[in-house]
Amino acid sequence: MKNLEPNKNCIKCIRLSNFRKENILKYPSYFNNPVSSFGSISSELLIVGLAPGIHGANKTGRPFTGDYAGILLYNTLIKFKFATGNYLPESSDNLNLKNCRITNAVKCVPPKNKPEMKEIKNCRMYLKKEIYCMKNLKIILSLGTVAHNSIINCFDLKLKDYKFSHGKYHIINKKIKLINSYHCSRYNTNTKRLSKKMFEENFKKIISYM
Ligand code: URA
Repeated sequence: MKNLEPNKNCIKCIRLSNFRKENILKYPSYFNNPVSSFGSISSELLIVGLAPGIHGANKTGRPFTGDYAGILLYNTLIKFKFATGNYLPESSDNLNLKNCRITNAVKCVPPKNKPEMKEIKNCRMYLKKEIYCMKNLKIILSLGTVAHNSIINCFDLKLKDYKFSHGKYHIINKKIKLINSYHCSRYNTNTKRLSKKMFEENFKKIISYM
């Protein structure tokens, strides 16, 4: 599919492109490129995260892989049969996604894990194309408000009519529902904003909406 992912040397975001160059020098063994989505484009479920973590997805080249957040995410996907195999913090594990695709609102690692508004906007065209190309898409799970807001913008809807709220589902159109979850980050799980049980509840809902 043409232009579904940014090219390797994408310079749409100068700050992120400079950060990538710094990381290539600092961590030469890392992937250090925009991280492509993982899972089949014909899936019914799309999970949207924030951005690759510097020593996780930016290292391994697979969303959430090697990131702390990936432990809860991938183990939950295995539990709810959206993945088979075993998750390891490296892309050479034997994990396969089933009827599920994972992407990020921003494809390049941002400094301090915080993409700027203009970077989220620059990268939105890839998310928009991806959603458009997912012809069987039924459910989008947004991990955090950045992902949620970017998804709402992809559909040209008004944020004031679609407020992020953990566990809530929004009807986007006749085919697609959006479910909100707090991001499964180390910060959210350590501060108990998000528990394993709360995260799993979302997947129970996803299955019941499919
Ligand atoms: N790793 C990712 O790929 N995305 C996130 O949102 C967090 C960690």
